[in-house]
Parts: sequence; structure tokens; C-alpha cells
Amino acid sequence: MFLRKLCGRYLHQASFLAREASSAPATVSNVAKNKIVSIYRYNPEKPTEKPTVKSYNVDLSKCGNMVLDVLLWIKKEIDPTLSFRKSCREGICGSCAMNIGGINTLACTAALNQNVKKPLKIYPLPHMYVIKDLIVDMNLFYKQYEGIRPYLIRKNPPSEPKQLLQSTRDQMKLNGLIECILCASCSTSCPSYWWNTDIYLGPAVLMQAYRWIIDSRDEATKERLDQLRDPYSLYRCHLIMNCTKTCPKGLNPALAMSEIKLLLAGFKKKEKPDMEN
Ligand code: SF4
Ligand code: F3S
Ligand code: FES
Repeated sequence: MFLRKLCGRYLHQASFLAREASSAPATVSNVAKNKIVSIYRYNPEKPTEKPTVKSYNVDLSKCGNMVLDVLLWIKKEIDPTLSFRKSCREGICGSCAMNIGGINTLACTAALNQNVKKPLKIYPLPHMYVIKDLIVDMNLFYKQYEGIRPYLIRKNPPSEPKQLLQSTRDQMKLNGLIECILCASCSTSCPSYWWNTDIYLGPAVLMQAYRWIIDSRDEATKERLDQLRDPYSLYRCHLIMNCTKTCPKGLNPALAMSEIKLLLAGFKKKEKPDMEN
């Protein structure tokens, strides 16, 4: 009897609370959830001022789930001077690469940690010249990429445009290489690249060099390999593996560089194309 009374009282209280909750205007989704986001700031128009780290109080219930959403929200709602690159917002263009929580990755595909107790730190890609805030100078990186001649080279190019055939097996050799979006997350995570940027090509560019070396339609294999024989362009890679660990596309530049080393040492040979052109 006593138990029945007690249970009845709790049930009454529970239904009362449920009614209160349903009539309350606030829901879990629109309750403010604030998180501190600290961002590296540098203004080239004030070159005498040192770079700073500025903290923003971000209401997570007002912005999307990705780090790029937070940056866009801060720029729109708090500080329009915040500068960063972005374009596709879906991991295709590679322009939003930055250091998020200590890891080089893409802001548009990096999910935001919803734990408000954990502040988020965002810096530009490491060891790059900063142009403004999170925007770094990519000129040397692109120059290095240009230097490996990232296009098909034929000994006797046809006078008329002509389709070059490639077997499925030969095409498969390019998988895991052609997906690279040249975001430079890997190169800028490599200590060897940090210290030898001007002489070492770095994992991103070397993986693309390998992509053209093993393409069955390319006929400049020897020249491409000879270009990498010096002590620096490739051999500054000491298999630290940060590159493969950080790649936001899940690619393996360290493996590609090891394959080039095997080709250069003569332990491997490029196979003949399955289809002659
Ligand atoms: Fe970016 Fe990965 Fe390509 Fe490196 S290998 S540039 S990290 S996509
Ligand atoms: Fe650097 Fe990757 Fe080689 S981190 S040393 S490029 S394996
Ligand atoms: Fe294009 Fe992030 S905006 S990869």
C-alpha cells in the first residue's frame, strides 16, 4: 500500500516534469553551447605587431558541425577580418588545409569536437610563410610541383589529338595517387621538409612524381628518375611517416617515395605497358 502510494507520487511528479518540459520554449538543440576557439592571427598591414592568438567564444548551437563552419561563423558574426582559404567545402580543392588541434588537415572535413570543455586551437600550416592569419604562401610548393613536370610526356607526340589507351590493370597502379588534392598537409607535417624546404621536394610533390613515373602511357620515366637522383630532392626523406599519418585523404605518400627509391636503386623496374599506343 505504502509502496503503491510512493510510486504513484513519483509517477505524478514525472508526468508533471514531462508536461513542463514539453511546454518549455528551449529545446536541447537551441540551448547555448559555448566553446573557446583560439586562432592564430597575423596582420601584414601592421608588420611591426607580433602575431597573436585570439580567442573567440563560439556558440556551437549556431554553427555547423565542421571546423570550417566555425571559421565561417566567426567571420560572419564576430570578426570579419579573420582570413582563411576555402572553396569547395567538401575535401576536393585542398585550399582549407590548416593545423587544427595540432594536426594538419582540411577544415571542411574536420569534424568539430562538441565537447565545450575542450578548447580548439587553429594555426596555419606549420613552417610556411604566413601571408595573413591562416593563409600561407604556397608559391614554393607549386613551383616544386611544376618542376616534376606533372603531365604526360611522349617521345613522339601525335600531330592530331589522339586517345592513349591504358589497360585496367595499368590504370589501377594510379589508384591512391591521383586522389591527391595537393593540400600540402603532408609536406608541412614533415620535419625533413621543414628544415630543407628549398632542396627537398617533400611528400606531396614526390608522390605526384611517382604518379607520372609509373603511368603506363608516359615515356619520360628515365628522365623523371634521373631528376630525383641527387642527395636532396628525394633522399631527404627519412621515413618519419608524419606525411602518411596526417593525409586527410587517407593516402600514403611514404609508400610512393619508397617505391621511387626501389626504382632508383634498380630493385624494381617499371613494367611494360599492357597496351601499346
Ligand atoms: Fe594532401 Fe594527402 Fe595529397 Fe599530401 S598526399 S597533398 S596530405 S591529399
Ligand atoms: Fe617526411 Fe614522410 Fe619522409 S614525414 S621524412 S616525407 S616518410
Ligand atoms: Fe576545399 Fe576544404 S574547402 S578542401
